[in-house]
Amino acid sequence: MPVVSAQTAKAPAAAKSSTKAPAKTSQNQLTTPAIESRVNALLAKMTLEEKIGQLVQYSAGAATGPTSGRTDDKDMIRKGQVGSLFNVTSARATNELQHIAVDESRLHIPLIFGLDVIHGFRTTFPLNLGLAATWDPDLVQKTARIAAQEASAAGVRWTFSPMVDIARDARWGRMSEGAGEDPFLGSAMARAYVRGYQGEHLDAPDSIVACAKHYVGYGAAEGGRDYNSTEISEHTLREYYLPPFRAAEQAGAATFMSAFNSLNGIPTSANPFTLKQILKKEWGFQGFVVSDWTSVSEIMAHGIAIDGATAARKAFLAGVDMDMQSNLYHQNMLKLVQSGKVSQTAIDDGVRRILRVKFAMGLFDHPYVDESKESGAFLRPESVAVAKTAASKSIVLLRNESVSGAPLLPLSAKVSSVALIGPLADDAGNMIGSWAALGRGEDAVTLRRALKQKLGDSRVHYAQGGNFLDATDSDISAAVTAAQSSDVAVLALGEDAPSMTGEAASRSWIGLPGRQQELLEKVAATGKPVVLILFSGRPLTLPWAFEHVPAVLAAWYPGVQAGNALADLLLGDAAPTGHLPLSWPRSVGQEPLYYNALNTGRPATDPDHPAEKGENKYVSRYLDEKSTPQYPFGYGLTYTSFHYGATSANAKEISVTSLQQALAAKSKNVLSVSADVTNTGSRAGETMAQLYARLDGTSIAMPVRMLKGFQSVTLAPGESRKVTFDVDAETFAFWGAENKFGVEPARVTLWVAPSSSEGEPTTLSITER
Ligand code: BGC
Repeated sequence: MPVVSAQTAKAPAAAKSSTKAPAKTSQNQLTTPAIESRVNALLAKMTLEEKIGQLVQYSAGAATGPTSGRTDDKDMIRKGQVGSLFNVTSARATNELQHIAVDESRLHIPLIFGLDVIHGFRTTFPLNLGLAATWDPDLVQKTARIAAQEASAAGVRWTFSPMVDIARDARWGRMSEGAGEDPFLGSAMARAYVRGYQGEHLDAPDSIVACAKHYVGYGAAEGGRDYNSTEISEHTLREYYLPPFRAAEQAGAATFMSAFNSLNGIPTSANPFTLKQILKKEWGFQGFVVSDWTSVSEIMAHGIAIDGATAARKAFLAGVDMDMQSNLYHQNMLKLVQSGKVSQTAIDDGVRRILRVKFAMGLFDHPYVDESKESGAFLRPESVAVAKTAASKSIVLLRNESVSGAPLLPLSAKVSSVALIGPLADDAGNMIGSWAALGRGEDAVTLRRALKQKLGDSRVHYAQGGNFLDATDSDISAAVTAAQSSDVAVLALGEDAPSMTGEAASRSWIGLPGRQQELLEKVAATGKPVVLILFSGRPLTLPWAFEHVPAVLAAWYPGVQAGNALADLLLGDAAPTGHLPLSWPRSVGQEPLYYNALNTGRPATDPDHPAEKGENKYVSRYLDEKSTPQYPFGYGLTYTSFHYGATSANAKEISVTSLQQALAAKSKNVLSVSADVTNTGSRAGETMAQLYARLDGTSIAMPVRMLKGFQSVTLAPGESRKVTFDVDAETFAFWGAENKFGVEPARVTLWVAPSSSEGEPTTLSITER
C-alpha cells in the first residue's frame, strides 16, 4: 500500500500564505521567455475582433444549460471569432474543426477543446467523492493521468476539473463531484488531479489542461440549494474555501473557472476581489479564467447588471477572461472597447493569458490528434486495473456488527446462497455515476454480474425490489422471498446517479428515495443477516439502518469495476480501506455539518445526547437530535481492528520566532508527533493515521480540530508501530483576526487518531519568544 507521508500529504509551505509568486512547477511552463515572445508576436498581428474571438467559447455538443441558439460554429471559427469549443468528443470531430481554425482562419490560431472529464474519460473511476474517500492522492493522480491519456487521444486537451469546492452540506447535489469538507484533504486531492491531468510537461500530447473550479465558494450555497447565494467572511474564505484552489494553482493548474454563486452580494463571475486581487495579483496566476456556463449573462439575474453589455464589462474587468456560452463578449466587447469602457490593455491581458496556455500546451505545434490511435487509448487493461484499485479503496465500511459471534463481513466464501436485492444491484449505467464523460454503462461490471462470477449462478438469488422511486407490493414481496431462501441478503440501495446527484440535484431530505427504506425493513424482518451497500453522491440519513442493519458500506458510485471491487470486499478477497471525506449526518436538520467547526461559547458537555437527557439546557445543541454526526470525518472500518496509543510530541514549547523563521525558510520539520498503533485483530490490515491540531488563545477562534496530516499504515495481526508525523511550521499558521497569515502564541492540542473524533491528545505551547 502506498504510504502518504505527512510531508507529501501536506499543503506546500506557501499554500495559504505567500503574497509573492512562489516557485512553481508547471505554472512556470506558462511563462517561459520563448512562450512570451511567441505570444507577443502573435498579439501584434491580431485585429481587435480577432482578439475578442479568443475570449469566446461555445458548446458544440451536449448542453447542460441554456443553449446559445447558434449554429454557426464553423463560420465563426473561420472568422477567428471563437477561441475554444467544448463538448466535442472525438478525434475526427476535433480534427475537422481544428483544420478550419488552423487552415482557414487568417492567423491560424488553434482552438482549445474542453470537456468535463471529471472522474475518467472512457475508463470511469469512482465518482470524485469516492476518490476522496481513498485518502490516496497518488492513486487519484494515476486516475487523472489515465483520464488525460484517453481524453487527449480524442482531441480533448482541456478538462473542467478538478472541482475543488469545499462542501459542508449534504443537501448540495454537487458534493459528489468534490473532495468533501476539509481544506487539507481537499488540497491534497486538488494537487493530485492537476498533476495527473497536466503530467510532467503541459506540452506533451497526452497532457490536458486542468481547470480548478468553481472559484469560489460555490459549495457554500445557502440551504444546500444549488446556485444559491453565499455569505463567507474573508477569514473563512481564506482559511477553508481558498486553500484547495491555491493548492491547484501551485501545482500548476493553467485555468480556473469562475462560479455561479454570488459571494457576499457580488457574483463570483464578476468579483474583482477574488479574481483580480487574490487569484491574479496575490497568487500571481498566469493562466486564464473561464466563466461557468452562461454565468456571465447570469450576472443580470443576480441583479448587478440590467443589460448584456454591462454584464460582459463587469465580468471581464473583474477577471473572467473567457465567456463560456453567454455570447455576451462576442456581442458586446467590440463596442465596449470602442466606447472606452474596456481598455485595449485589458483585452490584451485576457488574450495573452489564453494564448499563453495554448502555446504552453503545444497546441500551435501539434494541433491535431492521430485518429488511428484513439480507440486503442480507451479501457486499456492497465487502466481498468487502476479503476479496480480505486473502486476498492473508495468504499467505506461504516458498520460491521457481529452476527452469530463474528462480524458479518467478510461473508464466508462458503456461504451457500446470497439474496441480491435492490435497484442498484444490476444497474450498470448507475455504476459510472454522474458526469461520466464518454463512460458507458456497458463497460461497467455490476455487483450481480461479479457475484455470479464468484459464487456461480445458482447461489445468487436476485430480485430488483422495484426501482428508485417506484416499487410495487409484488416487487417487495419477491425480494422478501429471495431473502427467505438465502443465507444472507445483500441490498444495493441509494440514489439514481444521473437524476439525484451532481449539478442541479440538491435535496431537502436525504433518506432513501421511493420505497427503498420499506424494502430494507421488510427484508431485514425475515431475520436473515443483511448487508446494506449504499450508492450515493452524498451521505444519506438512515438512522434505522445504522441501528438495525449489521453491515453497511458506503460505495458512492465506484465506476467501471464497481461489481468486481464490491464482490472482493464482500467475500474477503480485499478489505475496505476507505475513510469518510465528510461528516455523515444523523438527520438533515444537522446540516451544514462539518468537523472543523468552532467550539462556540457554550459547547455541549455531552453532545451525544439531546437536551432532554443532558443536564444543562443552555448549551449549543438541538432539543431533538444529537450534535454529533452519525459517523465522523475520517472514519472507516476494516476487517481488523486497531488501537491508537497516546499522542506524544518531541517538544513542549516552540517559540513564535522559531516558527516564523521556519515558515520563511520553508523548513520541513519543526516538530515530530507520534503515537503507537497496534493491529489488535486477527488479520493484516491498513489504517489511516490522521494528525489533527487545535489552537486556543489565538486572535481569532479556530476550529475544534483541523486535519494536518495523514498516512496509511499496514500492520500484521498483533503488530505495533510508532507512527510519526514530521510537521512543518505551516501546520501552526493560520489567517488571524487581521486577515494576515502567520503564527501566534497559542496552546496547541494534537491528536494522532483514526478519525476526527478519536485519539488521546497531547498539548504544547507556542510561546511569545
Ligand atoms: C457546470 C460546470 C461545467 C460546465 C460545462 C456547468 O453547468 O457548473 O462545472 O464545467 O457546465 O459543462
